[in-house]
Amino acid sequence: MITCSVWWATPVEDTAAHRELLTDVERARFEAYRRGEDRRRFLTGRVLAKTVVGRQLGVPAGTVVFDASCEDCDKQHGPPRVPGSDLELSISHSGERVGLAVTAGAKVGLDVETTTRRADDGLLEYTLSPAERSAVAALGDDARTRAFFRYWTGKEALMKATGKGLRIPLTSLTLAPPDQPPGLVSSADPALDAAATRLAPLTPGDGYDAAVAVLTTEELDVTERWWSPATLGN
Ligand SMILES: CC(C)(COP(=O)(O)OP(=O)(O)OC[C@H]1O[C@@H](n2cnc3c(N)ncnc32)[C@H](O)[C@@H]1OP(=O)(O)O)[C@@H](O)C(=O)NCCC(=O)NCCS
Repeated sequence: MITCSVWWATPVEDTAAHRELLTDVERARFEAYRRGEDRRRFLTGRVLAKTVVGRQLGVPAGTVVFDASCEDCDKQHGPPRVPGSDLELSISHSGERVGLAVTAGAKVGLDVETTTRRADDGLLEYTLSPAERSAVAALGDDARTRAFFRYWTGKEALMKATGKGLRIPLTSLTLAPPDQPPGLVSSADPALDAAATRLAPLTPGDGYDAAVAVLTTEELDVTERWWSPATLGN
């Protein structure tokens, strides 16, 4: 059995105490965001991740330094890793939600999305494999949109768990249909093997959908919690 902790937060205030947790590189990324809401979502991801990881390692949040090297370039905008530890993390943000998933010893991917968009034909074609498109074809509008976000978040979570993200085409994966237990049925991309992945839908609240994926053959046990800066004494 592998355990996975998921933490949900709403964006934190942009305060000096929160900014102090950023390294110089992270501060440069923070400042490069033009929109205040993007800055706060990024800041929240780092404050949340450093607080949770610091607590797990028994060190102050301010001493936690991630390696977020990108596999394509030398920028620090890739998936965050914790050097010298077997902890694996994934961060996702959308609207008023920032999430963090943490596992030990197995790659993890988290995706949260706002569900306000309608799943029109263009979006279905961009996201779903032919088998998935036929699984949603007979559904009414609302049920199709719900199924669409389940597929979308599940696929992004799986892709993020590999560290490749959207370098894997969304349509190369086929997930289980909406009326069956969640999981990867087949992958045309060698980075994902259906037998060695676990997928779980999450509950980030009304207006959002989310999923977490772990690259493992073991059973997956997921716990979701809400976090605020006061929760962990930051
Ligand atoms: C990662 C990716 C799926 C983001 O999707 P999104 O729905 O827009 O955003 P989310 O909020 O869910 O995820 C963003 C987080 O994913 C993480 N991330 C970044 N690259 C990642 C990757 N390749 N794999 C897994 N996670 C990644 C980061 O933690 C990032 O948040 P942060 O920058 O605040 O730390 C998408 O940007 C991607 O596929 N990137 C890789 C491909 C790419 O851009 N290559 C060119 C880089 S030079």
